[in-house]
Amino acid sequence: MNQTDSLNPASASVAVIGAGRLGGVLTEALRAAGFDVHGPFCRDDAVLSVDIALLCVPDAAIAAVADAVRDRARIVGHVSGATGLDDVDFSMHPLQTFTGDESPDVFRGIGCAVDAHTDEALAVATGLAEALRARAFRVGVAQRAGYHAAASTASNLLLTVLDAAEQLAVTAGLPSADARALLAPLVRRTVENWADAGAEASLTGPIARGDEGTVVRQRAAVADAHPELLALFDQLCASTRELVGRTQEEAA
Ligand SMILES: NC(=O)c1ccc[n+]([C@@H]2O[C@H](COP(=O)([O-])OP(=O)(O)OC[C@H]3O[C@@H](n4cnc5c(N)ncnc54)[C@H](OP(=O)(O)O)[C@@H]3O)[C@@H](O)[C@H]2O)c1
Repeated sequence: MNQTDSLNPASASVAVIGAGRLGGVLTEALRAAGFDVHGPFCRDDAVLSVDIALLCVPDAAIAAVADAVRDRARIVGHVSGATGLDDVDFSMHPLQTFTGDESPDVFRGIGCAVDAHTDEALAVATGLAEALRARAFRVGVAQRAGYHAAASTASNLLLTVLDAAEQLAVTAGLPSADARALLAPLVRRTVENWADAGAEASLTGPIARGDEGTVVRQRAAVADAHPELLALFDQLCASTRELVGRTQEEAA
């Protein structure tokens, strides 16, 4: 396509730069969606001239890599949730966690935060997301860090809580090979309830019931088995009490 054409994502050439957890999966998914995709390019690879360069590099490397590919691509974008648009034309952040082993259809039905400097670049970001069957929604520069904090809380920080649960379960005598398998149905049902009705309606357990004596016994067990987890346990209990208080205020 030449410089004067309006860029059509369905026929544009794309270079994916960065062959890490997301870059490899995104390359295969865009290829499966019919794009002319090159890459994923590694650190020292020569990048071909393309219509769109999509940077899948660590957030701290975006500025330098964008600068390096600027003369090889008409439009440059990144896939970072928290990074602004100082160095690129658009952003397309898939709201999912990727370890690198996912199949190309992993983007189907997920959210995808987009933003851009121009209508053309926004059409590219939205077109890429929609070609992957993701649901594009706009998050402006001022909201990006807060939006990404939400994503990290829902995924990265949730894993820290689940890891604490696993450690406590194993110390309490659940077979370590089975601890996750035994906890997983509880986690899945909790997440499904939250997705359907939100936290306030889904909360059960001693804090919701007002069984403070039970919480005291739980706390003593945590202090005994894993004192390093006590601060996390106490903070989560405090936040859960606030959640219960919010529910009661709304009911009053
Ligand atoms: N993984 C996720 O769940 C996820 C989800 C949504 C968005 N994202 C976004 O995707 C981007 C990449 O994250 P990731 O998790 O895929 O990171 P990652 O697994 O660490 O991969 C980053 C890749 O970038 C490469 N790289 C670093 N500097 C480079 C350079 N100058 N030129 C070319 N390649 C370079 C790294 O190569 P070396 O190994 O040689 O350093 C590595 O292969 C980030 O902006 C992140 O916010 C990730």
